[in-house]
Amino acid sequence: MKRLDQFLSQLKYGSRSEVEKMIKQECVTVNGIIAKTGRQKINPLECQVHVNGQKVFYKEPIDIILYKPQGYISSNKDEKYPSVINLIKEPYDRFDFKIAGRLDWDTEGLLILTTDGKLVQKITHPNKKIPKVYEVKLDKLYQEETINQLLKGVEIKDGKNEPYLAKALNLEYNQEYIYITIDEGKFHQVKRMFLSISYEVIKLKRIKIGHLDLSDLRIGEYKEFNRNDIF
Ligand code: URA
Repeated sequence: MKRLDQFLSQLKYGSRSEVEKMIKQECVTVNGIIAKTGRQKINPLECQVHVNGQKVFYKEPIDIILYKPQGYISSNKDEKYPSVINLIKEPYDRFDFKIAGRLDWDTEGLLILTTDGKLVQKITHPNKKIPKVYEVKLDKLYQEETINQLLKGVEIKDGKNEPYLAKALNLEYNQEYIYITIDEGKFHQVKRMFLSISYEVIKLKRIKIGHLDLSDLRIGEYKEFNRNDIF
C-alpha cells in the first residue's frame, strides 16, 4: 500500500504539494471516486487511478529491451552525449530505469532497462555467466587463425587497469563481420580483446543477451519483454 500523493509524485505528476493541489481541485480519482486527500492509501497494482480523466499507467516491475543507437550513453547523465533514457517516452518515461550492462556511446544494439535492481544483478553479476553476442567490424582484413586466439584467452586491462584473461566462448565469421560471444562484461571488453591482437573495432553492435535478441526492433525503438526470455 502506498500513499496517493507519494504514488503520483513518484510517477512525476508533480511534487507532493503540487499533487495535493491537484487533489484539492478534484482532478484525481481512485476507482472512479474523487480523491479527497493525498494521505489516502492505495494498492497501485489494483487501484485504477485517473488524473484529469487520464488513466495512470502503473506496473512493476517493467523490463524493457531497447535498440540503442550510436551517440547515446548508457548512464543517466553526461555533458557531451544524450542518455538512452531520453529515448524512453510516455508512459514509460515516468519510471526510473536502471540499465543492465552498459554499452559505449559508439556501440549500438541490445540494452536492457528495468525498474528492478535485482534483475540488473542477475544479468550483470559475473557468476551468472549470461552469454552476450556482439557483431564486430574490424579496421582491416583479418585472418581467422589470429582471431581464434580469442578462444584461448587474451590478456586485457579491466576497468581498474588490472590484467585480466578475457576469453571468447564462440566466434563466427562472414565476409564483413565477426560474431563474438562472451559471458563477461569488463570495461570496453570487446574492443580491448581485439586490440590485444592488433585489430581495431570500427563498428560494434550487441545483438543478443541470453536468448533475447533485437528481432523486430528498429534502431531507437524499445518494447517490454518477458524476462524468462533471457535465461
Ligand atoms: N565491449 C566494448 O568494447 N564496448 C561495448 O560497448 C560493449 C562491449
